[in-house]
Amino acid sequence: MTSFTPRVFSGVQPTGNLHLGNFLGAIKRFVDMQHSHECIYCVVDMHAITVWQDPAELARNTREVTAAYLAAGIDAKKHIVFNQSQVPQHAELAWVFNCVARMGWLNRMTQFKDKAGKNAENSSVGLYAYPNLMAADILAYHATHVPVGEDQKQHLELSRDIAQKFNNDFAKSIKGAGFSDGFFPLPEPLITGAATRVMSLKDGSKKMSKSDPSDLSRINLADDADTIARKIKKARTDPDPLPSEEPGLKDRPEAANLVGIYAALADKSKAEVLAEFGGSQFSAFKPALVDLAVDKLGPMGSEMKKLMDDKSYIDNILAAGSARARTIAEPIMQDVKKIIGFIRS
Ligand code: TYM
Repeated sequence: MTSFTPRVFSGVQPTGNLHLGNFLGAIKRFVDMQHSHECIYCVVDMHAITVWQDPAELARNTREVTAAYLAAGIDAKKHIVFNQSQVPQHAELAWVFNCVARMGWLNRMTQFKDKAGKNAENSSVGLYAYPNLMAADILAYHATHVPVGEDQKQHLELSRDIAQKFNNDFAKSIKGAGFSDGFFPLPEPLITGAATRVMSLKDGSKKMSKSDPSDLSRINLADDADTIARKIKKARTDPDPLPSEEPGLKDRPEAANLVGIYAALADKSKAEVLAEFGGSQFSAFKPALVDLAVDKLGPMGSEMKKLMDDKSYIDNILAAGSARARTIAEPIMQDVKKIIGFIRS
């Protein structure tokens, strides 16, 4: 296999209600990766329109995700921050991948089944083909590492299958074009840390999500300190004290979730948190979690609000990031066309 320079790519959909799961499962980890890797962070507006988005809200939410990236500490000068629709190679490569991926592969995607529910006949074609666009996002940059939450694991596996099938189907042409062995890397999912699947504060069996009708189920990144405190105080728990070791969290989904959140916010392991709080009642643990959450999220929320007041600042960052992204994706797409046999002028 050709060796590829390590490069990180990831994205967040601008669909409103950015929450603690998006932060701990993804954005916080994007920040960490930028110290060791070249990173490309995308606001995936083309993914968002796979379900209806009000145009004014879509633009607002695109700026909000960008503001969250910046407020969390992503350095848009050193790394690339942009919105997907400003780089046409995503759509171009996605079409090629629509012709590489198999129906059977997409039929297995659990997220489509969850999102489309009983109404699959009435879903957009885009919602069904969405994982092919996701593969294009990553592979248009030959990205090798993709930090995501656990819910994206299946989509990442599909991206690897697509890359592999393209490499196999076009093996002769790829060699002919001068690539020693394989054109696309097989991107690796990075699903790490104590909060790869943050659960609803109201129900430990449900993922924390942007679309949960109850705002109490999630902590939004735009929430102020009082709201964060109120939501944590109201979070569902069980009557027992916290265990001293991790196996004691088994069958206690709400307790496990709050401990995971604490650990991820404090950059500790769950074991370390339990060593500190084992034996404590929730009446003692929750106030400690409130202090930590307010301390970590409060400044970020205020910075996001400040950034949101300066639309042109954000739009300029997206424009500059998109221009840089195109300089990487354009030559890769040119090679894809050559490999496939498309005539280019
Ligand atoms: P999206 O917008 O649903 O979520 C953005 C990121 O947040 C993570 N996440 C969570 N992590 C932990 N606990 C949760 N409750 C939770 N909810 C969401 C997601 O795993 C994700 O990492 N398809 C992607 C966006 C995307 C993408 C890409 C990602 C498009 N192209 C290319 C990586 C590479 C999505 O819908 O994420």
